[in-house]
Amino acid sequence: MKVYFDSAATTMLDPQVIDEMIQYMGDEYGNPSSTHAFGRKTRVAIDLARKRVAAHINAEPSEIVFTSGGTEADNMAILCSINDLGIKHAITSAIEHHAVLYPLEQLAREGRIKLSIVRVLSNGHIDLDHLRQLLETNERSFVSLMHANNEIGNLLPLNEVAALCEEFNAVLHSDTVQTIAHYKLDVRSLNVHFITCAAHKFHGPKGVGFLYVSNKIKVNPLIRGGAQERSMRAGTENVYGIMGLAKALDLAYANIDQDVSYIRDLKFYMIKKLRETFSEVQFNGDAEGESLYTVLNVCLPETDKKEMLLFNLDIEGVAVSGGSACSSGSNIGSHVLTAIGSNPNRPSIRFSFSRNNNKEEIDYAVSKLKSIYELPLITK
Ligand SMILES: Cc1ncc(COP(=O)(O)O)c(C=O)c1O
Repeated sequence: MKVYFDSAATTMLDPQVIDEMIQYMGDEYGNPSSTHAFGRKTRVAIDLARKRVAAHINAEPSEIVFTSGGTEADNMAILCSINDLGIKHAITSAIEHHAVLYPLEQLAREGRIKLSIVRVLSNGHIDLDHLRQLLETNERSFVSLMHANNEIGNLLPLNEVAALCEEFNAVLHSDTVQTIAHYKLDVRSLNVHFITCAAHKFHGPKGVGFLYVSNKIKVNPLIRGGAQERSMRAGTENVYGIMGLAKALDLAYANIDQDVSYIRDLKFYMIKKLRETFSEVQFNGDAEGESLYTVLNVCLPETDKKEMLLFNLDIEGVAVSGGSACSSGSNIGSHVLTAIGSNPNRPSIRFSFSRNNNKEEIDYAVSKLKSIYELPLITK
């Protein structure tokens, strides 16, 4: 049996998305910047895709900039804000994705910003009192806090954070890579200036995403050259990627209610199965509270087979993602698990689900995990 529980890393393309993309890999190959009929056809397709994408999050089409994915969109939001909005202070947390942390840390090293790290509680939630304090005691800030954490699944109360940022006139970026297409988002009712998307997290293609830039602010492009993306990102568009992204988003939002309840049920079934199997099991973050329904980060009992766990699961056909807290300075563990103080001696595994999974697969994965724990340790 082959079981894929790594949908927070990437998802399988939906066959309907493949059909949509193939059209633009074959017959519809015009360059959207060409003025002849071939080009006009792909130009119209991209414009319509942009309108559909914008409508899903209640944005204007002019607020959507297609990018090469979540990393580029995060970098663009950060660098454009610091370059163009005269901001000298940024706030982020230790559990952000590296696509956010690394550019901010680089800006701080260059002396271009002062960087404040907001406290994270042991359940993985952001300490909002500390955020208020940081906003109060510093000049106008750029705030980057992710909507949902890709490793532990914690959800940020985005409405509350956006209201706080509004109170202090801060610019807010939220990495929504794990939540776009999984939750309904309405940028009009939120005071959020930037959100980010990667299509491969919701059965769309890799290498394409978008940045939402609120039309309340004006920033300049990072990539310069042609006039594509209203001159916000030069370069011939990834036409089939963009068409695949729009189709995947249409499908996700058309089926969102049933997918949410189906996948949430899988997650809670797995929690139950794991509790029945491992009396000492714990869950990193706030698994049963404010948490992504697609992610379950399991903190397993201590074992002498810790190093071999993912390898053994892989041999049994179970694909999951690992992560353990850093136990020493030289051991590069998960920065997220380290930040929330997860026990480094216990193995942590991230299971992440999609509509393609079922309960039989969960039974299989848990039984394989159990038998790996029961294996005698082979010593020389
Ligand atoms: C929360 C989050 N942000 C950003 C990214 C980066 O997206 P991409 O790999 O598409 O550039 C990812 C993907 O792993 C992610 O989970």
